[in-house]
Amino acid sequence: MGNADTDAFGVYVHWPFCLSKCPYCDFNSHVRHTGIDEERYVRAFAAEIGATAERIGGRTVSTIFMGGGTPSLMKPETVGAILDTIGRHWSVAPDVEVTLEANPTSVEATRFRGYRAAGVNRVSLGVQALDDVSLKELGRLHTAQEALDAVKIARAAFERYSFDLIYARPGQTPEAWRAELARAIDEAAEHLSLYQLTIEQDTPFAALHAAGKLITPDDDTARALYDVTQEIASARGLPAYEISNHARAGAECRHNLVYWRYNEYAGIGPGAHGRLLVDGTRHATATERRPESWLMRVEASGDGVVSDEVLTLAEQADEFLLMGLRLAEGINPERYAAFAGHALDAGRIASLRGEGFVEEMADGRLRVTPAGFPILDAVVADLAA
Ligand SMILES: C[S@@+](CC[C@H](N)C(=O)[O-])C[C@H]1O[C@@H](n2cnc3c(N)ncnc32)[C@H](O)[C@@H]1O
Ligand code: SF4
Repeated sequence: MGNADTDAFGVYVHWPFCLSKCPYCDFNSHVRHTGIDEERYVRAFAAEIGATAERIGGRTVSTIFMGGGTPSLMKPETVGAILDTIGRHWSVAPDVEVTLEANPTSVEATRFRGYRAAGVNRVSLGVQALDDVSLKELGRLHTAQEALDAVKIARAAFERYSFDLIYARPGQTPEAWRAELARAIDEAAEHLSLYQLTIEQDTPFAALHAAGKLITPDDDTARALYDVTQEIASARGLPAYEISNHARAGAECRHNLVYWRYNEYAGIGPGAHGRLLVDGTRHATATERRPESWLMRVEASGDGVVSDEVLTLAEQADEFLLMGLRLAEGINPERYAAFAGHALDAGRIASLRGEGFVEEMADGRLRVTPAGFPILDAVVADLAA
């Protein structure tokens, strides 16, 4: 039997293009008005996958995630070619989870069956909101009805699907969010990602926010919105298994668990990050972000890697803590001690436990409590100090 805490290898593939740039988004996504030569990208993805496989050696791929950008702008043949390449370089687990992020427009939904035929078995749709005024404010290209139609098509085409909503939007009240979330859950099956709107630096939303033209909910309202989220999602059988991700038991996104459980993953494509085990040493890798520069780099040297750092054990201990404490299942403190060379500070745990922010479970795991999640960053900082 494998150990979920340590055995798993994921491959992340980044498709860096979108039809338009949403004003809140700081992902590595670019708008191009000229056509995109998908065959050229397929060749470059293949080169980078090959170079990564040569570097780390044989693996069994347990999860693949095509993220973006907007991967649902890729032709199904492109997706199929990338999946075939992964299968040529590594063995692929029979129960591999293959997720593709999709924008819920009607055009993209027409490709869903093609993705299924290419090997995708899970889609994650960026619904974001279920009212048209909000969708417009968020700069989205779809209406609520179009998104719901795309969810329906996803349900018919894939055995597993999820969708994303953004809450704590300007002017959103807990009552309005309660109704919207309840409506969303009517359409959800096994998984939902519920993100609080974050004002990311250097985005149009950041400029509007700084100018006082975009007013986000105050701390008390944001907390009330968070509490509504937990209450409704749990009551409807979708408790949070991670700070922003909700699933029925067993339906968690296994790829994202690879990150949060601090397992190994390869990052392929422009601006992708990886954590690779090379001869027993953990490396943090990152590739060139700009798509055209990434292409040229791969074509010249076989991969687009611009940064490759060996992580010290202390850095791994910090990353392990930061990722693992986002999970409702928490962490195995022994794994922390193996990285750090010392146990977590018992005094700090006792004081956080006294305040009700963490708890130790019967099997020895340490986790953040529902009261601790809203102040997760502070809890992690305290434990890591
Ligand atoms: C890479 S994006 C999504 C994929 C797809 N392009 C889409 O927009 O539908 C992943 C998710 O991150 C969330 N997201 C992006 N920027 C955010 C922000 N500033 N605050 C909160 N959530 C955000 C959105 O819910 C989005 O669906
Ligand atoms: S939210 Fe999605 S569609 Fe919008 S810019 Fe970001 S990646 Fe592209």
